[in-house]
Amino acid sequence: MKAASYDAIILGAGGAGLMCAAVAGQRGRRVLLVDHADQAGKKILISGGGRCNFTNIHTAPDRYLSANAHFAKSALSRYTPRDFIDLVDRHRIAWHEKTLGQLFCDGSARQIVHMLMEECARGAVRISLGRSVRDVEHADGRFEVHYGEEKATATALVIATGGPSIPKMGATGFAYDLARRFGLKVVEPRPALVPLTLGGDETLFRELSGVAADVVARSGKTRFREAALFTHKGLSGPAILQISSYWRHGQPVGIDFLPGQEQDWALAAKRERPRTHFHTLLGELLPDRLAEVLAKKIGLWGELANMPDRKLEDAARRLADWTFNPNGTEGFAKAEVTAGGIATDGLSSKTMEAKRVPGLYAVGEAVDVTGWLGGYNFQWAWASGWAAGQAL
Ligand code: FDA
Repeated sequence: MKAASYDAIILGAGGAGLMCAAVAGQRGRRVLLVDHADQAGKKILISGGGRCNFTNIHTAPDRYLSANAHFAKSALSRYTPRDFIDLVDRHRIAWHEKTLGQLFCDGSARQIVHMLMEECARGAVRISLGRSVRDVEHADGRFEVHYGEEKATATALVIATGGPSIPKMGATGFAYDLARRFGLKVVEPRPALVPLTLGGDETLFRELSGVAADVVARSGKTRFREAALFTHKGLSGPAILQISSYWRHGQPVGIDFLPGQEQDWALAAKRERPRTHFHTLLGELLPDRLAEVLAKKIGLWGELANMPDRKLEDAARRLADWTFNPNGTEGFAKAEVTAGGIATDGLSSKTMEAKRVPGLYAVGEAVDVTGWLGGYNFQWAWASGWAAGQAL
């Protein structure tokens, strides 16, 4: 069978691949976009609880993790949240800011997928869904892609197949295998924005499954003030998901259960109302069940009047920096994103093209750039897809 000829073949019709295809197509390039899923943008559809947290107005390079902290700067500065908001506005999609700069659709994430498909149609992008990529060959400056029963060739190939988080949605490590075949390095992929699990004597906290509190979570010098949630396996909630991206096996996670409290809150309460029980006092600041478990763990049970000042001071200090020792994460099955990925030192930060393989590009989550929770990962998908789309 004769191979169909294109200017660019993009593998993966997620956020990054769709953006890249639309931009290149509208620049007059003949583009083929291939995905093994039966629908484009599946992760967009389930994102943000079905409303897609499509960007964050506080996007800045320091909100991304990568072996090279500077790599994301160029793409992020050339395609900004404002650019994506303008696109959303042009398509008359209503949106709102929920919290912390996070922008969501008022209606449904479907609108974002629909918008990107329309942009691809404007660029006459040919989209092939439901066909697996069987093989990729490279000879004489052309890439030949075998997908389903078909064949296509192009001078440019874009890896936009994401990372292995949530495999049941069709996520694979395909990007890494392909990148390695072309001599690119891969930074060890690991689950990120993922719940942490507790074992040993910390399994006690699993009793609190469903209880949430506003905390500061800390790993090393990194801190996030948001909600933490106890689960039947350990810890989750935005503060924990954020810190999970920085956490490494064997490290502790510090939790300040009482952010913003005066240091002497327990002593002051002892002076003012000595007959109050410690766990009751704590229950005024935290959910009751959590207050009880923490009071028991600290070993302070009874009236404040019977507790030495020193013990109350120690308790306040512990509650401000409680140490958890997670024994793992809930893994790729539950990770919102994958940290690590195709090493940035082999790519141009301006075009996302492989330095040693002209015509090969990598964009989106497949690359070793991982954003915070809150719309940062889509902004990277749009920005990196746009950068490559401009260069194809
Ligand atoms: P993405 O994974 O989206 O797309 C890759 C595509 O490649 C998929 O369509 C897949 O089918 C295809 N593919 C994979 N292997 C293939 C192969 N071998 N052959 C052919 N095709 C293949 N981020 C954010 O900013 N705001 C949010 O609200 C959320 N919410 C959210 C919720 C949940 C549940 C998850 C799992 C993730 C999020 N995210 C998020 C993260 C966000 O979804 C993610 O960072 C982007 O979708 C990454 O976009 P990519 O296009 O790089 O990969």
